[in-house]
Amino acid sequence: MDAKSLKIKAAAEALTYVKDGMRLGIGTGSTAEEFVRLLADKVASGMNVIGVPTSERTAALCRELGVKLSTLEETPQLDLTIDGADEVDPDLTLIKGGGGALLREKIVAAASSEMIVIADESKLVNMLGAFPLPIEVNRFGLAATKFAIEQAAGKLGLAGPVTLRMTGDEAFVTDGGHLILDASFGRIPDTRALSNALHAIPGVVEHGLFLGLARVAILAGADGVRTLRS
Ligand code: A5P
Repeated sequence: MDAKSLKIKAAAEALTYVKDGMRLGIGTGSTAEEFVRLLADKVASGMNVIGVPTSERTAALCRELGVKLSTLEETPQLDLTIDGADEVDPDLTLIKGGGGALLREKIVAAASSEMIVIADESKLVNMLGAFPLPIEVNRFGLAATKFAIEQAAGKLGLAGPVTLRMTGDEAFVTDGGHLILDASFGRIPDTRALSNALHAIPGVVEHGLFLGLARVAILAGADGVRTLRS
């Protein structure tokens, strides 16, 4: 089965958790987009939900397909967020931010009573870190922040290239106007320690480790869809 079909299967299973009247956080990325397409079909046939999008890209797709949108200002508490991930470990700790939306994704997930992750099963790993960790940083003091990240990681026994994300010749800029450093530290045995160390660096806006946010992961593979719970 091709990757797109697996994403659709995971998204379809997640849709069974969506009930009429829910306030939804809506994720970013190719899997979340499949969810938006299926959700839009439900909305077209009468389901009444409002969505808070985690990126401008997702907002545009929702508008195009007729999914009613809100903001966290109007709707500060959400029932359920459905989003993709770059890596998922067995405790449902995640690496996110491959699409650059990690800050809004984390704010929206934290404002939700529940977060469900949808992915193809290739995203499930024993230990996070093969996927470079996205770290959203302020533009000011970029080189100093990068140095501080490398120092902090070194104290935890982590090392590897930390590179500025580019789009062509230009630095990639997030919806919040920040930059992304992708940290290729390899396997991360203590995600909590790294999370705390990164949060202690003033130039770090947010990082792509999602700890304790996802309670359910729906993973689609050639043998079917399985649901992990934390
Ligand atoms: C967006 O910033 C990311 O967190 C995505 O959720 C993640 O990259 C998964 O994207 P795909 O569903 O396209 O793999």
